[in-house]
Amino acid sequence: MTQATDITPKLAEFEARIGRGEKIEPGDWMPDDYRKQLIRMISQHAHSEIVGMLPEGNYITRAPSLRRKMVLIAKVQDEGGHGQYLYHAAETLGISRDEMEQALLAGKAKYSSIFNYPTLNWADIGMIGWLVDGAAIKNQTMLAHCSYGPYSRAMVRICAEETFHQRQGKEMIVKYAQGTPNQRQMAQDALNRWWWPVLMMFGPHDSDSPNSEVLRRWGVKTQSNDTVRQLFLDEVVPELMAIGLQIPDPQLHFDAENKHWKHGPIDWAHFWQVVKGNGPMNKERLAARNQAHDNGAWVRDAVTAYASRK
Ligand code: 3HC
Repeated sequence: MTQATDITPKLAEFEARIGRGEKIEPGDWMPDDYRKQLIRMISQHAHSEIVGMLPEGNYITRAPSLRRKMVLIAKVQDEGGHGQYLYHAAETLGISRDEMEQALLAGKAKYSSIFNYPTLNWADIGMIGWLVDGAAIKNQTMLAHCSYGPYSRAMVRICAEETFHQRQGKEMIVKYAQGTPNQRQMAQDALNRWWWPVLMMFGPHDSDSPNSEVLRRWGVKTQSNDTVRQLFLDEVVPELMAIGLQIPDPQLHFDAENKHWKHGPIDWAHFWQVVKGNGPMNKERLAARNQAHDNGAWVRDAVTAYASRK
């Protein structure tokens, strides 16, 4: 990483622009590290959106009502669109769509750990909407202020749609929590399964986040992993408690002095196992993504043939 001592005039001007809150656009000068970090982060974000379609997509045929089916179809379709915005934002930095796609299909690219858990029943679909998309909104609202123009603008559009995703999930879980004992238990079981993986979504603690320093310096991340996690906790803990759900963290407590909810220790060994590909559903998700790619080969061939017609 470039040290302050050998700062070049170009880097000095770049950092002055960041300091003035200017957006860096695709044709602007930018340090190689800035470009590399953005390609890393945006491509992983795009992969997360596309892989994130899988856990919910296989419930579209099992929705409990036509309304729920239509809402879930709309949500899954939105996630696919988010992936397209983000792949395009990454392409503005010089990486090709094919290169990103091949890295994902080969299991070489990261995507969010949260999508490597099973969806066991319909209450999971509600919990994903409320908590996973709720966590994504906190992180993406932060990124909407990111210094790279195409990424920050994509976030504005994505956050608007994520709000609908979160609302529909919350509506579902509130109904379950106010329903029959069996429905309440399904909601509680879903919370027990998703609570800790959702806290891990925000990434390792700031002290263990090697990318954060340069991302904060250059205005890509405007808040730290722990700060965004804290925003999420302070929002959802009272809401989950208000509908009578028990949060599966015996050490969770309210710090009255700082007015924040404090969680117990996160199992980072488990997190890194999932990130390294050894989570409950990593292999299935990658196989499903490869299957979808193979099934779509005829569409790509048809488009290529049409585009090259005389
Ligand atoms: N899952 C997988 N890998 C993760 C991770 C997670 N939840 N959190 C961190 N990591 C990885 C990082 O990619 C990095 O590895 P790398 O250097 O090989 O890429 C390593 O762990 C160290 O973590 P850092 O904190 O240093 O990494 P970042 O500074 O990139 O911070 C992040 C992690 C906060 C997730 C950041 O990458 C980010 O904000 N990404 C953009 C948002 C995003 O990707 N969200 C994923 C969810 S998208 C979604 O939920 C869709 C919605 O529709 C539901």
